Amino acid sequence: MAAYGGHELDSCAMTASRDNEERPARRPRVFSGTQPTGALHLGNYLGAMRNYVALQETHDCIYCVVDLHAITIRQPRAELKRNTIETANMFLAAGVDPERSIVIVQSHVPQHTELAWILNTVAYMGELRRMTQFKDKTGGVEGESVSVGLFDYPVLMAADILLYRADAVPVGEDQKQHVELTRDLAERFNNAFGKTFVVPAPIIPPEGARIMGLDDPTKKMSKSAGSAYNYIALTDSPDEIRRKIKRAVTDSGTEVRPGDDKPALTNLVAIYGLLAGEAAETIIDRYAGKGYADFKADLAEVTVDALAPFQARMRELADDKGFTLDVLRLGAERAEAIAARTMQKVHERVGLVPRPD
Ligand code: TYM
Repeated sequence: MAAYGGHELDSCAMTASRDNEERPARRPRVFSGTQPTGALHLGNYLGAMRNYVALQETHDCIYCVVDLHAITIRQPRAELKRNTIETANMFLAAGVDPERSIVIVQSHVPQHTELAWILNTVAYMGELRRMTQFKDKTGGVEGESVSVGLFDYPVLMAADILLYRADAVPVGEDQKQHVELTRDLAERFNNAFGKTFVVPAPIIPPEGARIMGLDDPTKKMSKSAGSAYNYIALTDSPDEIRRKIKRAVTDSGTEVRPGDDKPALTNLVAIYGLLAGEAAETIIDRYAGKGYADFKADLAEVTVDALAPFQARMRELADDKGFTLDVLRLGAERAEAIAARTMQKVHERVGLVPRPD
């Protein structure tokens, strides 16, 4: 199988712990997921996917396209199908190597939903109601017509992670609370039924964990933002990237520097630094006395250049549909073997009678 990938990335600080490891000695395991709800953006890449790639050097990794999470918000059928394959392609194009890592679609491994059901029996309504993403998605008004799936979303996410006994979970800042809930559920289950799950640690990059919207630096960059000028999609054309960065809001003054009084520049300098692999001080020195226009023009080129190899691989993958399907078929087989072992243990611990042979 040909390998796509090899994106050069600086490795990020890692905080994985193997505190409650019961497995034979081997590399610690990573699990992470991304929703197939449209083109991924720079926030997804800098907050999470960059780490997906880097962690392959030190961990056994499982990366999942979480289609069952995506349907907690209604998705047009054809779009969901297209976005599911495209999201898998984005993992591969960013440098996830399917020979080293397992790449799966969540709905292909039925144990995710089975474990979610069992975890539902230990999760509390109160803790789910306190999840900030749930509050954001329901506008703080939890009414009769909020779906149970949206409410239960974090329990399915916990099942994703615990199913593979993952040690570490690379995510952006916005998913930290969900990983904390996962830890609580793992500990609660272990206390009630006996040691079963590994309690996972989040891996959140020191820089880029919360990339802000280009049109509003007080809110995170998001696919569901009202305007396409909020985000740079990883698949945006060079002209779209230039247009969006030109239109990005800036702060009062002219100085190119981060600071509490400059939320927009803080965000833009962070993006520049991460994509160019440069420290903020180098960028500040370079644009001293130059102003925003020069800085933004260069940031656009830095972004176009950083995304060019990724976009070239996306085109190759789009032309070779069989490759992605092979990756997903093999991924599901390998993942299911791990998942089945965990579920056997869970059934035993809970007291479910094994199906007679
Ligand atoms: P999702 O699909 O919204 O986002 C995928 C990853 O991108 C990160 N991210 C960001 N990072 C920095 N700045 C931003 N503006 C930004 N926006 C998004 C997210 O933190 C995430 O890491 N619930 C998850 C998917 C999920 C999952 C899992 C993750 C399902 N099961 C198990 C880890 C483990 C989500 O909606 O991510």
